[in-house]
Amino acid sequence: MAFLCITFLFLISISTSSSASGDDTLTAYEVLEEYGFPIGLLPKGVLGYTLNRSTGKFSAYLNGTCTFSIDSYKIKYKSPITGIIATDKLSSLSGIKVKALLFWLSVVEVIVDGDELEFSVGIVSADFPVKDFDECPSCGCGFDCDTVKGRRVKFNRYVSSA
Ligand SMILES: *[C@@H]1O[C@H](CO)[C@@H](O)[C@H](O)[C@H]1NC(C)=O
Ligand SMILES: *[C@@H]1O[C@H](CO)[C@@H](O)[C@H](O)[C@H]1NC(C)=O
Repeated sequence: MAFLCITFLFLISISTSSSASGDDTLTAYEVLEEYGFPIGLLPKGVLGYTLNRSTGKFSAYLNGTCTFSIDSYKIKYKSPITGIIATDKLSSLSGIKVKALLFWLSVVEVIVDGDELEFSVGIVSADFPVKDFDECPSCGCGFDCDTVKGRRVKFNRYVSSA
């Protein structure tokens, strides 16, 4: 699945881009992996990206807005997704929101801590297993598009850290 996802995107980037990409040989998903993140942090359909390797500043471009649910959470990606990428740490993020308790909150930081991914929206954060993101979610149906064979991602821990 992960392989298909990368291949798919690779094909897209061959056919559409070249352009002012940060690195012509890597997809946005491969860049994520290079910095220690699972590819599923970005949904399918990234059209291109820019990356300044000395500062880590990046922008990733989607075709519009992408929304899907992960269990009780609603996630929204709005192009462009921008931030600063470093090994195991995405910071100053903009363009990713999660709906919790009726409010849309911006995800500002994502940290890889061992086999956990920590999503921070400022005052609260939530930890999820990294392996739950080894596939790219699809806009609309997220990680659960194939209801027969689809793997159900369980997000049941919600950690508050003041
Ligand atoms: C990366 O950012 C630095 C600092 O803003 C800048 O000096 C440099 O020219 C940028 N590199 C590229 C390739 O854009
Ligand atoms: C972007 O989305 C629009 C509307 O869904 C579609 O018509 C268009 O072909 C898409 N563009 C790309 C580059 O995928």
